[in-house]
Amino acid sequence: MATVAIVGASGYAGQETLDRVLAHPSLELYALGSDSLAGRPAAELDPRLGRNGWRGIPRFITNEAALSCGADVVFLCLSHEEAATVTPPPRGVVVDLSGAHRFVDPGVYPSWYGFEHPHPDDLESWSYGLPEVTAPVGRLVANPGCYATAALLALAPIKDEIEREVVVVDAKSGMTGAGRSLKPSSHAGAVLENVAPYRVGEHQHAPEIASLLGFPVALVPHLLPVRRGLIATCYVRPLGSDLRSILEAHYAESHVVTVLPEGIAPELSRVQATDGAEIGVFGDRLTGGAFVVCALDNLGKGAAGQAVQNVNLLFGFPETAGLRLSGVLV
Ligand SMILES: NC(=O)c1ccc[n+]([C@@H]2O[C@H](COP(=O)([O-])OP(=O)(O)OC[C@H]3O[C@@H](n4cnc5c(N)ncnc54)[C@H](OP(=O)(O)O)[C@@H]3O)[C@@H](O)[C@H]2O)c1
Repeated sequence: MATVAIVGASGYAGQETLDRVLAHPSLELYALGSDSLAGRPAAELDPRLGRNGWRGIPRFITNEAALSCGADVVFLCLSHEEAATVTPPPRGVVVDLSGAHRFVDPGVYPSWYGFEHPHPDDLESWSYGLPEVTAPVGRLVANPGCYATAALLALAPIKDEIEREVVVVDAKSGMTGAGRSLKPSSHAGAVLENVAPYRVGEHQHAPEIASLLGFPVALVPHLLPVRRGLIATCYVRPLGSDLRSILEAHYAESHVVTVLPEGIAPELSRVQATDGAEIGVFGDRLTGGAFVVCALDNLGKGAAGQAVQNVNLLFGFPETAGLRLSGVLV
């Protein structure tokens, strides 16, 4: 058993992480951090946490207290800027779900995240944990961004088999991707029955994708009027290899990522509220190009599910322990 503290447990990513931890056979919840709920019972976040069976869940404590409680695993579910200020505890695994430790180059932070990194010299201590592409190493893990996860699952295995100058990632995410705090752009009145691109040409996941692939892609994120789920359609030009065969071979042993049979497209409805991802591969008869499409849940494989998958790998637990992969109809 490994004990767990969740820092920022009241946000969407924190709540999803809590859900995975409660379902995990080898993780034991030890501390729940939230500055806004410190001192209050867990049921104040969600009444389901007050039910029989969940009554042993600890009360909220401050994020600082949760960080330093001595747990074997700390999940950091804070905003990028808050997470960047954190000094990791001296022992134990820390998985940061924010973007605060995804780059070795501190220069990325002022230009793409809008703040100077307060611990620039420590960034090299963190590894990027995208298990199907680059497994986590060491005890400090930067969990990938949700758009970056979808784009990299689709593109990383084929990156040497496509023209690098012409990759477009047309991506769409549900509203929970924007977090729980209310903003004018995430009001129901702005989002429902609407679809629009945002941060076109300047989304912070673009340099993240580029740093893993070794070349930039044109990322166009859109906000979808659904609660959760993310789909990324990647437009590529193959150099000659059969992209489907490469992707099928890459994910042949995966229980998390499925390459769908020819002619079947990934769909949000099959991945929403799960920790799995679907990939579809299509040729373009007219241009000779190809489309590689990846669907996942922004809070599942795009956040909490992946964070728990990383912990499973680091502790030697079964890779999918605690993950939601078995549902047929959600
Ligand atoms: N949402 C996603 O799909 C997703 C996917 C991948 C990565 N991430 C990353 O994970 C981190 C956390 O994201 P998130 O979506 O969980 O953010 P969030 O819902 O905004 O929560 C983050 C923190 O903000 C505070 N907060 C939450 N709701 C609030 C409210 N109504 N009023 C005031 N404060 C509130 C909470 O802290 P206190 O209770 O301590 O005040 C919470 O821990 C971010 O760095 C994000 O980029 C998110």
